[in-house]
Amino acid sequence: MDVISGAWRRTAAGAGLLSPRGEVAPTIFAEMSAAAVRTGAINLGQGFPDEDGPQEVLEAARDAIARGANQYPPGRGIPDLRTAISEHQRRFYDLAVDPDSEVLVTAGATEALTATLLALIDGPEDEVVVFEPYYDSYAAAVALAGGRLRTVPLRRPDFQPDLDELAASVTDRTRIILVNDPHNPTGAVFSPEVRSEVVRLANAHDAIIATDEVYEHLSFRGPHVPIATLPGAAERTLTISSAGKTFNVTGWKIGWVHGPAALITAVLTVKQYLTYVNGSPFQPAVAVGLRMPDAYFTDAAAELLRKHELLGAALRTAGFETHTPQGGYFTVADATALGGADAAAFCRALPERAGVVAIPLTAFVAAEHRGDYAGLVRFAACKRTEVLEEAARRLASLRDA
Ligand SMILES: Cc1ncc(COP(=O)(O)O)c(C=O)c1O
Repeated sequence: MDVISGAWRRTAAGAGLLSPRGEVAPTIFAEMSAAAVRTGAINLGQGFPDEDGPQEVLEAARDAIARGANQYPPGRGIPDLRTAISEHQRRFYDLAVDPDSEVLVTAGATEALTATLLALIDGPEDEVVVFEPYYDSYAAAVALAGGRLRTVPLRRPDFQPDLDELAASVTDRTRIILVNDPHNPTGAVFSPEVRSEVVRLANAHDAIIATDEVYEHLSFRGPHVPIATLPGAAERTLTISSAGKTFNVTGWKIGWVHGPAALITAVLTVKQYLTYVNGSPFQPAVAVGLRMPDAYFTDAAAELLRKHELLGAALRTAGFETHTPQGGYFTVADATALGGADAAAFCRALPERAGVVAIPLTAFVAAEHRGDYAGLVRFAACKRTEVLEEAARRLASLRDA
């Protein structure tokens, strides 16, 4: 018996969630994490930190539970968190955001993105332009919203898009240009030219810009630049971020979106019926986090950069060719010299071969473009130093094999 509706079965199959026979296709992330457990391999596949974040943030959540913040919060999020988000945007980016009408607290950045797409996509004629490789929820959420995904490739060595290819992909059918910066999985931070071109094209074709800035405080070569700060951008941009990566609380799922009041209202109409609200005691705790001193944020980026350097050196010693990340949790490495021209097969064998788990970049690419990324592997650097050092020792065995 088919228990999944035809419409959703087609949607889910299109997004790679279901096999053609209607079975749930385990994601490569689930498959690799299971392999890590089965083999005792170090899991550098999934991007979550293995250390707690700042004590004052954790304490604030415990406090909030003790003080009784355990029932539904307001639909837009508690006023103190919305104010803290507004203060944060002013403090780091000089953006003016009205906490009452221009901010919405969501169940992670994922809900903010999905609600945005569901609210703004009107049907199969509406296109969403994304850079490829892309975070895996994008294709699924566009499919769920009934829109069409249009991809612009990020190419080696620096994973910046070609400006002509970008311009050719944005048309009057483009409803949303979705930009993840700093970028998962490539570690790219987009150049000023790319950012300006996104804004120019959005204006020329009357498209909305949605950003995914979950790694905003993990930018290594200079301060993060939200697209909303560019001239002509704020009035058509929904800026999305979350607390998970910034405060090492990926399980709390507190995110937010801010932008023009009319767009936020549109997103709210969907969010209202997805989760309505979430994370009562975590909301005040994230407000505490957002008000932490500057040193917290700069130290977090410096510490992660140090880990990337450790991981990068280990990968090169093992025989990989590495790409230097400009931001975010991940280092991308080319496994071709190690017999990994097919990175998916290489990653499936890696737990047994070297006791380490990683994810092939093809997991973030539409099936028809996988060949372009076939030898590339993504490794997470957001792990304790001793874990990375042990991973380095294990990876070194690849060179000697
Ligand atoms: C680019 C990107 N966007 C969104 C998310 C998910 O964010 P959240 O947990 O806040 O929903 C992740 C998590 O890995 C990510 O890498």
